Amino acid sequence: MQIHKGNIITSASYDELRIIEQGYIVVKDGFIEDVSDTLKPEYEKETLIDHKEKLILPAFCDLHMHAPQYPQRGIGMDCLLFDWLSGYTFPQESNYKDIQYAKSVYARLVREFLRQGSFHLSLFTTIHYDACDLLYKMLKEAGLYAYTGLVNMDRNSPDYYVDETAVSLEKTERFICEHLGDEKVKPILTPRFAPTCSRPLMEGLGKLAEKYDVGVQTHLVESKAEAAWAKELYPEFASDGEIYEALGLLKGSGPKIFAHVIFPTETEERILKEYNGISVHCPDATSNIIAGIMPSAAMQKKGLKIALGSDVGGGHFLGIYRQIARAAQISKMKQFYEPEHDKIELANAFYMATVNGGSIFDRVGKLEKGYRFNALVVDDMLDEEYHTSLSDALERFCYIGDERNIAERYIDGKKIDPDEVYERLLKV
Ligand code: GUN
Ligand code: FE
Repeated sequence: MQIHKGNIITSASYDELRIIEQGYIVVKDGFIEDVSDTLKPEYEKETLIDHKEKLILPAFCDLHMHAPQYPQRGIGMDCLLFDWLSGYTFPQESNYKDIQYAKSVYARLVREFLRQGSFHLSLFTTIHYDACDLLYKMLKEAGLYAYTGLVNMDRNSPDYYVDETAVSLEKTERFICEHLGDEKVKPILTPRFAPTCSRPLMEGLGKLAEKYDVGVQTHLVESKAEAAWAKELYPEFASDGEIYEALGLLKGSGPKIFAHVIFPTETEERILKEYNGISVHCPDATSNIIAGIMPSAAMQKKGLKIALGSDVGGGHFLGIYRQIARAAQISKMKQFYEPEHDKIELANAFYMATVNGGSIFDRVGKLEKGYRFNALVVDDMLDEEYHTSLSDALERFCYIGDERNIAERYIDGKKIDPDEVYERLLKV
């Protein structure tokens, strides 16, 4: 048993933080047994770890990230989606046929997730089985919580980076079969997006969703151009979302994760609700390569669940705390140009990054009794001369902090050292 003492910040609700100044978290076997502002007498003899003025936060969730794009972050940012895909992303992703390239990048990436405090993930990979399998093994070795899958694409892709329909389906089924059943790292269907996936491919994936009861992650109404192209390729459907529903991809009980969702139709909103879909807001990517800002406040009001994603390399930075700040920032931009939209605030975005993101995993995302102690200890970052509140400290960390301000990291109650884990990843 361990007792952590410090300034605890977690979500009380979508609108409200729960802040306990100099509070105590009792951790037993990786789970939180008690959170309170005084230490109960029965715990007084247990080991106490005093984090002093530092903040204790739940670890973050990144529900949309492209693992192979880690080397291209901050590059190609003058492009919009289609030029960025063909000019930068497809050539770069094709490198993962070389397992040494994959090993070098993925080991650094997994270390960076640990450094940045993103312990709950949903990751795209590439079409390469061995590289995808290697990433899976590294996520396991690092003790992270994740969904990941082999990327499907059988058309509108370059000759050097595309699969035949049957090959894509066969590799996907094999990946699911070989990685089903783990508690922490789980397979998920990953059709890149409707424009690169033919109808027979989508139908085949729909059968796998049902057969193996797995979820799906993809991009949904990323931009007007993307939605229009999908409609041209699938004239029998009125929108992106209807393709996924009609062709059976939402039939499994696993999570349904949709990145961007910039211009959802009414039918898509119905689908998101009916299938308990998660829309992933990726503010950096939206400002870089995606044209349009998710109507996050309006979607929240309609009862749709929103989480946050870095979308690296469409986004340029891996720390989800910065996406919390950016979500608040760009909602004000949206409100400025479209005054009928409300803005979202830091507490709302923090909830998305922790509680909503955590909802697809088992008991993560809150510092509350019964949850796993997956937590970060963060500098309060307050100036000596100008002491303000603990919510200000959280806000400042989200706006100007970085991984150097994360002093300690805990997964399942165990303290982890990203550099020590990295050495082990190189041996996977
Ligand atoms: N749509 C299809 N592929 C991609 C990708 O790699 N990144 C993003 N953000 N959108 C996509
Ligand atoms: Fe993406």
